[in-house]
Amino acid sequence: MTEFEIHAGNIQIKNPIALAPMAGIVDIDFVRDAAMSAGLAIIGGYNLDAATNDSAARIKERGRAEFVTPEPIKHLRNELERVKEMEDPPAIAINVRSTEISPLLEAAILAKEHNAILEIDCHCRQPEMTDIGVGEPMLHDLENLQSVISKLKRTGVVLSVKTRSGVVDDVELAIAIEDAGADMIHIDAMKPGAGVDHRAIRVTRNVTDLVIIGNNSVVDFRSAKDMFGHGADMVSVARAALNNPGTIDNLVRAVDTFQEQTGWYNAPKHICSGGDDRALTFCCLPVKPCAIHRVLDKYGITPQEFADLKVELSRETPLVLGGQQTCFGTLIWCCKLTKPCFMRDAVLGQIGVTGVEYMRLKKKLSEDILNNLKERKGT
Ligand SMILES: Cc1cc2nc3c(=O)[nH]c(=O)nc-3n(C[C@H](O)[C@H](O)[C@H](O)COP(=O)(O)O)c2cc1C
Ligand code: SF4
Ligand code: SF4
Repeated sequence: MTEFEIHAGNIQIKNPIALAPMAGIVDIDFVRDAAMSAGLAIIGGYNLDAATNDSAARIKERGRAEFVTPEPIKHLRNELERVKEMEDPPAIAINVRSTEISPLLEAAILAKEHNAILEIDCHCRQPEMTDIGVGEPMLHDLENLQSVISKLKRTGVVLSVKTRSGVVDDVELAIAIEDAGADMIHIDAMKPGAGVDHRAIRVTRNVTDLVIIGNNSVVDFRSAKDMFGHGADMVSVARAALNNPGTIDNLVRAVDTFQEQTGWYNAPKHICSGGDDRALTFCCLPVKPCAIHRVLDKYGITPQEFADLKVELSRETPLVLGGQQTCFGTLIWCCKLTKPCFMRDAVLGQIGVTGVEYMRLKKKLSEDILNNLKERKGT
């Protein structure tokens, strides 16, 4: 089995494909039928108090599915106990709503006991929920959201926050969530109107080390790869898993193969193609006007200082071997493996470095560059 090295807190996640929550639909039965191969299955959303359950009942009356759970903790305990009987299940998260903190704390303790993740639903837009202040309205009061996060984190639970992009400032939101101690951010990167807002994933990746789950309109490996290339650690799937129960299996197979072939399943797109700052590892020697200069300015580093830094950080690695026939005389400045280039591939052949090893070296270089730039900037 391919290794992905994804973990949220102490919870290991076997691959970067997640099932997203759908109220009244995604429970453990749904996981068993459509998401056993996933790395993570997020069940719910579950309503934890009387107010949210009343709202859910009213939503149900108008024909939309909801879980109405008069005894939510008992119900969730049963669901989590069933996971113990499954062979090689995905990691489980429970997506929850409540107007009060104490049921959230109870759910956090329950999740922790079962090695599951708790996810706060700050996403729901159903009027019956927003009228009582749960779901999306929580994004508008960052101070309160931070207080909820830090209270929940005191239980020791691994915590995710489900958000919707473009509602408030995505950068401020990600920083607030991370500062309050959450482990993951699950972003519905929707564009008002229609489509996916990859920008929301990129700007979040550039300011946070949270585990990022990119969500919206992932239906196949191409759409998943777009999320990964903008900085997502994982992608989640809701409607496609409902419409085609084979979606998750197909995605897991595809990402497995891609990881085996390239060694870096979520390698960034080049910066000039919209990739996040991790892509500095694939940048050319910055001698021409292009998108890199905006990024270097942000970190307060000159092109010459950046060039010196990249050379210094690569000094002891195979990236400095050979390479005379490449565009800038060394593999340090070379593109990602999925960009076809016979010159780079010829050099890799000569120095005996496989494509996967090349990408692992570039990944390490990317981490070193960003650590250095963040240190200089004092962030
Ligand atoms: C029927 C339905 C119910 C949903 N219920 C929830 C929910 O309870 N909690 C939540 O955070 N998101 C909920 N979502 C949002 C999805 O998790 C996801 O963010 C959204 O559908 C976009 O992803 P997709 O393009 O893969 O469908 C729901 C979506 C659908 C379609
Ligand atoms: S340096 Fe090269 S790869 Fe980087 S943004 Fe500029 S043109 Fe693109
Ligand atoms: S030699 Fe190929 S991989 Fe290297 S910078 Fe030039 S085009 Fe990119």
